Amino acid sequence: MSNSATGIPAPYSTADPSSFGYSTARTRWPIIVTGAIDDISKSVFQHGHIKSKVDEGCSIIATLQNLKKEILEGAELCPLANDGSAEIASFNQNLKALGKPTWHDSPWLFCECYLFKRISTCFSLSEHWKSYDVFMKQKMDTFKSSKPAVAELAARYRSLVSALKKDHASVAQSGEEVIFQEIFEICLWGNATDLSLLTNLSYEDIQKLQGSEARKAAESNILVNDLPQVYSKLKQAQQAEGPSPRVDIVLDNSGFELYVDLLLAGYLLASGLAREVVFHPKNIPWFVSDVTPADFGAILGVLEDPAAFFGNSDDGILEDLSFLSAQLEAFRQKGRLSLRTSSFWTLPCGFADLPRADPELFAELRESHLVIFKGDLNYRNLTGDRAWSPTTPFVEAITAPAPRGKIEQQLSQGYENTDEAQAPSMADLNVLALRTCKADVVVGLLPGRDEELRAATNPEYATLAAAGGSPAPSVSEPREWAWSGKWAVIQYSQAR
Ligand code: F6P
Ligand code: MG
Repeated sequence: MSNSATGIPAPYSTADPSSFGYSTARTRWPIIVTGAIDDISKSVFQHGHIKSKVDEGCSIIATLQNLKKEILEGAELCPLANDGSAEIASFNQNLKALGKPTWHDSPWLFCECYLFKRISTCFSLSEHWKSYDVFMKQKMDTFKSSKPAVAELAARYRSLVSALKKDHASVAQSGEEVIFQEIFEICLWGNATDLSLLTNLSYEDIQKLQGSEARKAAESNILVNDLPQVYSKLKQAQQAEGPSPRVDIVLDNSGFELYVDLLLAGYLLASGLAREVVFHPKNIPWFVSDVTPADFGAILGVLEDPAAFFGNSDDGILEDLSFLSAQLEAFRQKGRLSLRTSSFWTLPCGFADLPRADPELFAELRESHLVIFKGDLNYRNLTGDRAWSPTTPFVEAITAPAPRGKIEQQLSQGYENTDEAQAPSMADLNVLALRTCKADVVVGLLPGRDEELRAATNPEYATLAAAGGSPAPSVSEPREWAWSGKWAVIQYSQAR
């Protein structure tokens, strides 16, 4: 399905039985809301002595139960109550523009953003639970269960950075690019462990994905790897006269993934491949495990006092984490490592709208030598979560105009006389997507690769292919290989 005037494909829909959005809306979202209800029920019980807080907590539980019922029944999406946050108007304008969208028949990405904003308003509109993060406990618990991989990587990091400190020149000459690849791949696979997939994976499955053995085995599962171009880009910036290299990381998940993002930042700063690293979290709890500023503080707190979190241990983890923590703190104090918030990241529009929706943020990112977008949701936002042909060039998918509601149209007025090709767009940023695939959308593959993977994971597709040659990807054939987080892409688009 595509818009016949523009040729741009439609976004995936929760009504399409072949999309992962279909089962997500009917099965995974109710499970996620049930988890939220369980969490707040426990917290309410712990506050038994403050009556007004308990009463309000009980009414939040009832609201979440109604929300779950609405999802299960496929009810119409209702306008969001105004909690005074910047994104509400945009959500409600989009709802209007969509007509009468329901949980079971609306653009998947929009509907999923709506779900998490709706959960957020249950708390933001309260008096006693305003800043309560209903997913915080889950995020910290999974981080605790990642201890073996945390220890392994802390030791590896310490030895790498100590070698750099001892003899920077020789490390930079011999093997710097290999280490660069390694650290980016660690950062990539850290994304395989997000909690919204815990409805499919166990803690044990997740632990298995985190170790170095698993990473080596998974190297052939990286379908596109543009890291050599990224390395040259940063190397050139390091050696050039111009402004010193700045790297931005648009964060995804808290816990283990944020930990490996911090390792990447520490390594880039210690090696001189970046002079400054800026992190971009979400402002509100988002897609279960995404990083909020509070999570960022909590993980830094763990690194500062690892014994309090992981317990005493004689395997070196405490010393190695303290080494990392001291280094990150020194960078932070020098202003070389910072956090930059924006409500843009929780708007219901794709990232193609960034220049219009948050021109200030866009102008900052334009100055960056590399903007790293972590994870699946950021990739869906970059590509508009559209049913692109899998061989569509990455740059084409990230620059296609996002669907716009009235608010965004008003914001774009300044650009209305600009030639489309010249208008500021994502083509002006140095974009790097580090994404393990957990949803349908995928672009930039070599011809035939998607068909091969479909045939390998779907016996029906293989039979079709054998009978009639190579069937073109069709909406009726699910792209199941892309849902599991086992395959990944590292895709780069250099600023024009
Ligand atoms: O498709 C599964 C899913 O839960 C999506 O809802 C979401 O896009 C994604 O995974 C979250 O993954 P990540 O944390 O990598 O963005
Ligand atoms: Mg996430």
